[in-house]
Amino acid sequence: MRDEYIIKPKFTDESTAEEMSYADRVAADLASSGLSGEKAPKFYIQTFGCQQNVADSEKLAGMCCTMGYERAEKPEDADLILVNTCAVREHAEKKALSIIGQYKHIKDSKPETIIGVGGCMVTQKARADKLKNSYPYVSFTFDTGAIQSVPRLVYSALKKGKRSFVMSENWEINEGMPSLPSQSHIAWLSIMYGCNNFCSYCIVPYVRGRERSRSAEAVIEEAKQLIERGAKDITLLGQNVNSYDGGMDIAELMHKICALDGDFRLRFMTSHPKDASDRLFEAIAEEEKIVKHLHLPIQSGSDRILKLMNRKYTRDAYLEKIEKLKSLVPDISLTSDIIVGFPGETEEDFEDTLDIMKKVRYDMVFPFIYSPRTGTPAAKMDGQIPREISAERMKRLLELETEISNERNERFLGRTMRILIEGESKNDSTKLTGKGDTVRPVHFPKPENHEKLIGTFANVRIKDVSTFSFEAEII
Ligand code: SAH
Ligand code: SF4
Ligand code: F3S
Repeated sequence: MRDEYIIKPKFTDESTAEEMSYADRVAADLASSGLSGEKAPKFYIQTFGCQQNVADSEKLAGMCCTMGYERAEKPEDADLILVNTCAVREHAEKKALSIIGQYKHIKDSKPETIIGVGGCMVTQKARADKLKNSYPYVSFTFDTGAIQSVPRLVYSALKKGKRSFVMSENWEINEGMPSLPSQSHIAWLSIMYGCNNFCSYCIVPYVRGRERSRSAEAVIEEAKQLIERGAKDITLLGQNVNSYDGGMDIAELMHKICALDGDFRLRFMTSHPKDASDRLFEAIAEEEKIVKHLHLPIQSGSDRILKLMNRKYTRDAYLEKIEKLKSLVPDISLTSDIIVGFPGETEEDFEDTLDIMKKVRYDMVFPFIYSPRTGTPAAKMDGQIPREISAERMKRLLELETEISNERNERFLGRTMRILIEGESKNDSTKLTGKGDTVRPVHFPKPENHEKLIGTFANVRIKDVSTFSFEAEII
């Protein structure tokens, strides 16, 4: 792996520097084995969950490279396998456990393989214990506060064959981990970590700790580096980016990043409705570089359910904010997360959710069937909804979603759109795919010299819109 791809942060905490010294020790050890070229030691990272995990995995990849590993195409080829898990719904945990189960055969055929598991699932002690006791081929687990300890854990496994199960609950910020972005033109930039909101259904505050913001200086410096390496689409990440407080608020931070030289666009995720401020809306309206899209999860349209969810806003307060934003940015694309079948949700509550979808007219919603999470208040609430009822409500919600999305998509027909070309279309190798200011991918026939176009902006004319994507021609 060529060093130049790794982003090396300018700010480093002392404790992180100490942990990173183990990366050099692993590198020295691997180098002494003299394996190189085809035989060079390799790493593979399997990531589940949200963009926060994607960003964390880029840091893990940066550390793997610093330790002297090269990226493997598939887990079978790797000497070090890391699994970055999610715990937000039962399904996410099941998927992670199933993949970890499949890796046993790799360890059986190549016993020197090191397998480590991190992320939100193993930040719950019961899950880490399960891996410790029932998955003897897992070398180590590390909670979300201990990512920076991975070089030390690898060193321990490599040199001493030692198994470690770290539950650090270290909710400090650890500046100074190297990072290896998985794509050069699309960048994920964490600006804060953790969550203080304790929505009654959600495991995130328990597995990500309390809110803490990186300093604006560190964020702006990293944005600068990303832009210099060719980033064209930067998303600022946090569980609740509106409560960012790194010496300035998110609006000012975005104004500062937009002022950096370069042709790029800026997104941010996720915003909590109670903290979405006028200053944020004004920034979206004023800054050309900020994408005209807001993901503002409503979760439910019923005031009664919102209260049980501990969301701290009412449907009217939410609608008021949407109206304000629409008055400033009439063409804004809005998206939302919605939970179906929260404990106690009646048919009437559910209809309130359908009603608010009709009022807001989202470009897209991400609906989830409620999944009880051990340790959260909602898991113990009365009135857990049978699966059949949730599934039936989900079906109706999706029908309405399709109807509204189709109508929203129509407005782009015939329009010229500036898109960032991301690569070849997954379903049609004669086409390229890109994304504009909306949430839908745009496909268009590959022009000559198309390799050179990937990672660049282009103007296209939208010729056809379907529910999930747009067809276009390049201008
Ligand atoms: N911090 C973000 C995202 C949190 S997780 C936010 O506040 O919006 C992403 C989404 O998963 C949530 O918005 C919610 O819709 C969904 N989710 C969280 N916990 C869930 C649960 N127990 N069951 C079903 N969906 C859940
Ligand atoms: Fe979970 Fe609520 Fe925090 Fe989002 S704001 S991460 S839904 S507790
Ligand atoms: Fe999952 Fe953790 Fe993100 S629980 S959704 S990976 S913060």
